[in-house]
Amino acid sequence: MTKEDKKIQIFDTSLRDGEQTIGVNFSIDQKVKIAQQMEKWGVDVIEAGFPVASKDDFKAVKAVAESVDRVCVTGLARAKQGDIDACVEATKNAKHKQIHVFIGTSPIHREYKLNMTKEENLAAIHKWVSYARQFFDIVQFSPEDATRTEPDYLVEAINTAIDAGASVINIADTVGYTNPIEFGQLFDYLRANVERFDDVVFSVHCHDDLGMSVANAIAGVQHGATRIEGTVNGIGERAGNTALEEIAAAFMVRNDYYHFTTNINLKETKATADMISEFTKMAIPNNKAVIGSNAFSHESGIHQDGMLKNRSTYEILTPQSVGMDATHIVLGKLSGSHAVMQELQNIGFDVSKEEMKKIFPVFKSVADHKAIIDDNDLKIIMKKVGVMSHA
Ligand code: KIV
Ligand code: ZN
Repeated sequence: MTKEDKKIQIFDTSLRDGEQTIGVNFSIDQKVKIAQQMEKWGVDVIEAGFPVASKDDFKAVKAVAESVDRVCVTGLARAKQGDIDACVEATKNAKHKQIHVFIGTSPIHREYKLNMTKEENLAAIHKWVSYARQFFDIVQFSPEDATRTEPDYLVEAINTAIDAGASVINIADTVGYTNPIEFGQLFDYLRANVERFDDVVFSVHCHDDLGMSVANAIAGVQHGATRIEGTVNGIGERAGNTALEEIAAAFMVRNDYYHFTTNINLKETKATADMISEFTKMAIPNNKAVIGSNAFSHESGIHQDGMLKNRSTYEILTPQSVGMDATHIVLGKLSGSHAVMQELQNIGFDVSKEEMKKIFPVFKSVADHKAIIDDNDLKIIMKKVGVMSHA
C-alpha cells in the first residue's frame, strides 16, 4: 500500500441480496461454507441473511455468526422492532457484528409502499435506528431507493439516522437507476450538505439493472464512500448486484489510477466464485469479466502472436493472480502459424518452418469447418500431412 492509497471496505451480501436471485436458496450448511470462504477471500463484512424472514434464515445467520472469526457479521432489518430483535438474537454470538436497518426514502416508496409522509418517515428512521443502537455499536442505515429520493430530503434522512446513532450510511441504488457521473454528483452534494459526513462511513449498494453497478460503485468511492456492498458473481435481485471480484481486480490492476486497496486476497477469487456458482447452480458465463473461462483465452492470430511474444500485450491481469489456470491459446480459424507451431510442440511435434508451410493450409481448411481445433484434431491433421512426431 503506497502512502496515498485508501482502504475500501468490502461488504458481501451474497447470502442476503444474492439469495434474492430467482431460484436460489442456500442451505444453512452452504451459507456457513460460503461465509468461511468469504473470510478466506478477505471481505470485511458479511450480510448473512434477513433473520426475521424465516426460521431457517434466522438459524443461518446464527450459524454464520458462530462460524467466522475475523469478519464482521450483519443481519438485515426493516425499521421494525421484530426485525431488529431477530437480528440481535441471531448475531449475539458473533465476535464482530453490526446491524443493517433500512427504510425506503424515495417519494415512490414513501407514498406507495409505506404510505408515510416525510415526517413519519423521518420519525421511523429516528425511532428504529435509536432502538437498534442500544444493542449494536455499529448501526448501518440504508435509505432504500436513495438515488430516486429528493436530494434535500435524502440529506434530512441521513442527518436523522446519524443523530440517532448510525455510523454507516449505505446509499442504495435499489433499482440500478443512476449512472457514474450522476452518482458522483450525488456524493458531492451529500459531502457538502450532510453535517457529519466525515464522522461516519459512507457505503454504496448498487444494482445492475442497466449494467452499471460496478462503474457506479467505483464512482461512489471516488466521491467519498469508503465501503462497497456487492456479491460474488454479481448475483442478486433482478439483474443482480455489483460483482465484488470485478471491483477487487479493478483496484489491483488500476491502482495507478484509483489508489484504492481492499483486504481481498485475489488468489482466492476463483475458488469463491466457483463455490457460489455451484451452490446457486448458476454457471459463470464464459465471457464474465475476471473469472469467466474465456477471460484468459485468446483466439485471434494477432492476439496469439502478441501473447507468445509478451503476455502483457493482451492481458492486463494474469489468470494465476485470481486463482485460475494458465492462459489458454485456443486454436481456431483466426489463429496464426506461430500459435499452431507452439501447440504442436506442446504435444510432441517439433516441426520446422518448412514443414509448417504444408501443415498450416490443412489446419486452416479444417478450422473453417470446426470452431475450436483441439489436440486430437491437430494429430489428425499431422497424419494427413504425413509429419510424424519427433518426441
Ligand atoms: O437494494 C436495496 O436497496 C437493498 C437494501 C436493503 C439496502 O438491498
Ligand atoms: Zn439490494
